[in-house]
Amino acid sequence: MDSSVSGFYKKSLEERIAIIKEAGQLTEEETAQLKKFAALDFEQANRMIENVIGVQQLPIGIATNFVVNGKDILIPMAIEEPSVVAAACNGARIARALGGFKSKASAPIMIGQIQIVNAEKGAEKKILKAKKELLEKANSMDKTLKKFGGGAKELKAEELKTQKGKMVIVQLLVDVRDAMGANAINTMCEAIAPKLEEISKGKVFLRIISNLAIHRTVKAKAVFSKKALEESFKGKIRGEEIVEAMLNAYAFAEADVFRACTHNKGIMNGIDAVGIATGQDFRAIEAGAHCYASWKNKGEYKPLTKYYKNEKGDLIGEIELPLAIGLVGGATRTHPIAKTCVKILGVKTANELAEIMACVGLANNAAAIRALAVEGIQKGHMKLHARNIAVIAGAQGKDIEDVAEKMINENNVKVDRAKEILGEKN
Ligand code: MEV
Repeated sequence: MDSSVSGFYKKSLEERIAIIKEAGQLTEEETAQLKKFAALDFEQANRMIENVIGVQQLPIGIATNFVVNGKDILIPMAIEEPSVVAAACNGARIARALGGFKSKASAPIMIGQIQIVNAEKGAEKKILKAKKELLEKANSMDKTLKKFGGGAKELKAEELKTQKGKMVIVQLLVDVRDAMGANAINTMCEAIAPKLEEISKGKVFLRIISNLAIHRTVKAKAVFSKKALEESFKGKIRGEEIVEAMLNAYAFAEADVFRACTHNKGIMNGIDAVGIATGQDFRAIEAGAHCYASWKNKGEYKPLTKYYKNEKGDLIGEIELPLAIGLVGGATRTHPIAKTCVKILGVKTANELAEIMACVGLANNAAAIRALAVEGIQKGHMKLHARNIAVIAGAQGKDIEDVAEKMINENNVKVDRAKEILGEKN
């Protein structure tokens, strides 16, 4: 399969679905479900959360051009914001010229935390002495995880000075394999709490996963060649100039926290969109990513990507972030569209999915700084935005395009103007 499907955006829904069907080996039922544009019925939704009264829907677009670890992939992205899917396609197209993305996930080790208050002096040492027994107890709670090579692997205990006095915090490190891990970890933490109270003579309060998943990270890298960058602007600007402009954009984010925040937001546009499409806990992903951006740099919030030039003057982009995502348990297994999206991606393990997600984050970031540093992003944004404004003003059918185009040409994209144009037309 070649993911550089040319003109995907010009194809009809039927044609797009046919491509996805072949790429993901989807069944008739799965494609029919996609074409329904209605993901969940009441029963399904009511099993997922409480007090259900309806469903909220987001469009799913396909990001083309991605090559990750030598493999062509079509990537489903669920997002409400125009231009994000297009940006991912653009970033991936430029990276594709020199082989695409290389990406590697670490072992899926998550952290559980147990808070002990009023522990006796030296409790940490006693807890560490009982490590073997505590790990055995934790592992007895999840035999399946153990069977697949996962399970509780390590336990740490440290004193923490807080505004309410000293506490002992125990960290349980668990290899959660293909799960996001919250359920497994929380169960294990609750299970070893009574023993920790017995050993420490203190009282356990919180027993919960940490979303700062420093042991479950992904690194990805791509070369954005100056030639491909130049071609992306149809040769109107020299590749060297684009590389320098993008390095300036990166230097700005590296030195300024206000810019770093927006820089990272652009990265998360891509990562969240794949996360939502595949049914992930995107709040956990967000919390982990932003916290890592400062934890990794001794408390100073920095970009999650890095850019530099190689000896040929091409731009190298790198990303590193924690990604606590799963393929078992949660919505990934119960939500019909999420299941189809996982199938389109062709991933079999959570690590493979994490490796792809990191590349999408890097692609979105490279595309954003490329556009921002050279022509600004409003040009691209305006097309879809103008269509939305036309619809808000009441345009239908062919009028939507006509009104949008007129507003763009006039550089005046406003609901009032759209209404006037509609009035003039009819
Ligand atoms: C918009 O959703 C994302 C950007 O602001 C990211 C960035 O500024 O790098 C374009």
